[in-house]
Amino acid sequence: MSISNLRTEYRGGQLSEQTASHDPIEQFARWFDEAQAAAVRDVNAMSLATASRDGRPCTRIVLLKAFDACGFVFYTNYLSRKGRELQDNPLACALFFWGELERQVRIEGTVSRVSAEESDRYFAQRPLDAQLGAWASPQSEPIAGRAELEERLNGVRSRFSQQAAPPRPPHWGGYRIEPARIEFWQGGAARLHDRLLYVRESGGWRQSRLAP
Ligand SMILES: Cc1cc2nc3c(=O)[nH]c(=O)nc-3n(C[C@H](O)[C@H](O)[C@H](O)COP(=O)(O)O)c2cc1C
Repeated sequence: MSISNLRTEYRGGQLSEQTASHDPIEQFARWFDEAQAAAVRDVNAMSLATASRDGRPCTRIVLLKAFDACGFVFYTNYLSRKGRELQDNPLACALFFWGELERQVRIEGTVSRVSAEESDRYFAQRPLDAQLGAWASPQSEPIAGRAELEERLNGVRSRFSQQAAPPRPPHWGGYRIEPARIEFWQGGAARLHDRLLYVRESGGWRQSRLAP
């Protein structure tokens, strides 16, 4: 079948002003729980868009590791491409697509590093291989080949072999997206999808409906 004929008919779940929470974080928590209950694969995977100082966008998948009223947290290498772009331009957009539920959530906001203590706590609970990998991989830098990575990993393994656990690398840690806008999209029958947008205002959130 040609790509132009590929299309999904949405079954027509509904998202309404009456049933959606007035708080988008609460609404996100509800949908996240439902996505988990529906066994969505990589339910916490989100596409993260950043842009360079001159406005060139770039996206990649990262994993959501925490969320609450303060924002949405992910972990990465601060010297990676995304890290450098966020240094220059702290505006970012994250997108979840939970296809099994015909849902999408878009989060736009300003990004800042989480505290060193918060990053330390999360790093300490990662499996050892992931901890060593954070030291071994100069994320987003060109490398000569796979062998270089394996050599680096072996080097790091022996460097920390006397310690119970490696410390967090200074160039690795969390970012928190403090949301300014959150949009929930529910696929609907006959392409009449529901879109509820929450915009942060002083003292709360304003909810509105967008045309699909
Ligand atoms: C399912 C999945 C989860 C990922 N999770 C993370 C993550 O949590 N943190 C991270 O730095 N990279 C993660 N990656 C790798 C990124 O997509 C990306 O390749 C890497 O961070 C380098 O991106 P950059 O060069 O744009 O900085 C993940 C990739 C996939 C496919």
